[in-house]
Amino acid sequence: MLDIHDATRFFGQKAAVDRVSFRIDGPAFVGIIGRSGAGKSTLLRMMNGLTPATSGRILVEGRDVLALRGAEARAWQSDCAMIFQQFNLVPRMDVVSNVLHGILNRRSTWSTVLNLWPRADIVRALEILDRLGIAEQAPKRAEALSGGQQQRVAIARALMQDPRIILADEPIASLDPMNAQIVMDTLKRINIEDGRMVIANLHTLDTARRYCDRVIGMRDGRVVFDGLPEQLTTNVARDIYGADADFNESATSTAITPDSSPKSDKDAEYAAQMLA
Ligand SMILES: Nc1ncnc2c1ncn2[C@@H]1O[C@H](COP(=O)(O)OP(=O)(O)OP(=O)(O)O)[C@@H](O)[C@H]1O
Ligand SMILES: [Mg+2]
Repeated sequence: MLDIHDATRFFGQKAAVDRVSFRIDGPAFVGIIGRSGAGKSTLLRMMNGLTPATSGRILVEGRDVLALRGAEARAWQSDCAMIFQQFNLVPRMDVVSNVLHGILNRRSTWSTVLNLWPRADIVRALEILDRLGIAEQAPKRAEALSGGQQQRVAIARALMQDPRIILADEPIASLDPMNAQIVMDTLKRINIEDGRMVIANLHTLDTARRYCDRVIGMRDGRVVFDGLPEQLTTNVARDIYGADADFNESATSTAITPDSSPKSDKDAEYAAQMLA
């Protein structure tokens, strides 16, 4: 279904993603782990076309999605929805409109400006919110919701696109443990019930072990581990994270600086692109 061949992305002289190859055959739940700067986000963004590749191919049913342009590239982007650590909702807009924004690129400028949505789309948005257990939040402003609820709204927005693949870049890194579990359970349900592939960058090993069918470990832009969660022993993890003998599993979280990191800037860029 998804066949990545030597995907490479240089920033200047540095390969952020360095000849990455792997193949995912069915609707698996795949986790990507690795220390900060390993190339996890760049790889996800390349898959979805947000970051152009320097070289390589990503084949989906035999078609190289890296070579798509214009309408075909946009169709592919809506087929692989992205979810971010910072949710990227429009804070002052109500929840149901945020969800409807998942299909913004299918609409005319005028209907968007006038905020006119076909009734069938509104019903579908509400059904998705109901499925995710947050239907009663529909009329509220997104900013009034808890982090876990906001991330579920972001998942609902992704589902509105009816994507085949969900790419989640550290979807629970900003959440407390209880909300993190709700969000991961939601992604897992979508994976199993709908048969949508989920590829998630994760910053803790226990989450990767608990939810993933397969884990890919990256280090310095390269894949250094590709296996089952049970093969992800502490020793293997130490190697992936390039840590020394006093490696502590609980210390694998990548640094989070929600407000000013380049990561949130890039996410804001994506949000802007979604709304453009
Ligand atoms: N837009 C950019 N311009 C220049 N360098 C970049 C850009 N985006 C990423 N990089 C560099 O590419 C490398 C990989 O970054 P990436 O964000 O993919 O890592 P990551 O594994 O997602 O890290 P984190 O866990 O901190 O999110 C890093 O060295 C980073 O500095
Ligand atoms: Mg990242």
